[in-house]
Amino acid sequence: MHIILFISLLFTGYVYANESFISSDEYAKMLYKNPRGIGCHKCHGEHGEGKEISSYISGNNKISLIAPRINNLSIKRFRKALEKGKRLMPEYFLTDVEKVYLYYYLTKQKKKGVEFAKNNKK
Ligand code: HEC
Repeated sequence: MHIILFISLLFTGYVYANESFISSDEYAKMLYKNPRGIGCHKCHGEHGEGKEISSYISGNNKISLIAPRINNLSIKRFRKALEKGKRLMPEYFLTDVEKVYLYYYLTKQKKKGVEFAKNNKK
């Protein structure tokens, strides 16, 4: 329930962070790039559109290591992914509020970087 409260707070536009007022947008972007660990954008791309982390050739095949698109998920799926261990993705220790900010940032990025997402559908 408190998640809904935070989401509505978010849309009022401001958050108190680092002893100064910055906008929700600035805070959310900062968190995406610096979430107390490796930045999400390094693997998932600037806008959460997904990205090729690395690739190698095996025989005649190119094997790509892809971080999936994350700017079009339900909040439930998004939070769940950050709660349980993943294969490649590092574990983060984010608070519920931080997860909501990340989700908020990403949904606003949805229309950007769609090219990659289109070409790398699962
Ligand atoms: C080292 C690369 C890497 C970083 C950094 C990373 N991820 Fe991921 N993420 C992945 C990969 C790869 C997957 C696919 C599952 C797996 O193999 O772990 C994934 C899966 C996810 C999923 C689930 C997607 C789905 O379709 O259900 C979400 C949500 C997600 N990441 C969000 C984030 C957020 C938010 C951050 C920053 C706090 C982040 N990731 C940082 C590599 C990364």
